Amino acid sequence: MKKHFLIAVFASIVIVFNACKSDPEDTVGIDKEIYDMSKTTTGFTWYKFSSAFLNKSSGTGHSQDFIRTRYNAAAATMLDSTGKVRSGTVFPEGSLVVKELHETTSKFSRYAVMLKRSGAAEADASNWVWGYINADGSVAEPAKNKGASCRGCHSQEGHIDLTLMNKYFE
Ligand code: HEC
Repeated sequence: MKKHFLIAVFASIVIVFNACKSDPEDTVGIDKEIYDMSKTTTGFTWYKFSSAFLNKSSGTGHSQDFIRTRYNAAAATMLDSTGKVRSGTVFPEGSLVVKELHETTSKFSRYAVMLKRSGAAEADASNWVWGYINADGSVAEPAKNKGASCRGCHSQEGHIDLTLMNKYFE
């Protein structure tokens, strides 16, 4: 009797655990779209035109040691001749900014992404959709949260349309 009870408890725990775990197959909608767009580097321009790994800044909200940031064609129109974001920029519709978070220079971990899409149900007041997706496609934080854990930090003094690369990487 006791043994069966324990088995039942164990089975329940396994079921609950699996239900909570985000699986790549469960990545749907705008999270999936953001992941698919971020996976390729084709058509992107790197911050300061360099794909070199940057050491994480003092202001980073993430544990990974290395980052690289890139801009899709729409977003790259806002970069100046040195590959930095022009001051006063408001990124145009369709802009996609992808920050790659790497644990080591050979171990990629996660994408942190900002997508300009006015009218999206997931967009915040600045029309940014905030994506946070693991290397395997599972969701670290869903876009439907509207960047709840991102925007406070990204609104700090010196941001440009809520972006922070210029402030931390001169
Ligand atoms: C505690 C502060 C902090 C939090 C929280 C934070 N970020 Fe950032 N983020 C930064 C800083 C600082 C940079 C500049 C690059 C760096 O130092 O990593 C940055 C850069 C970025 C960039 C590159 C574009 C740019 O110039 O800002 C993206 C995209 C991004 N973050 C997405 C996110 C997302 C998505 C979340 C939430 C899931 C998030 N960030 C949470 C501090 C933060």
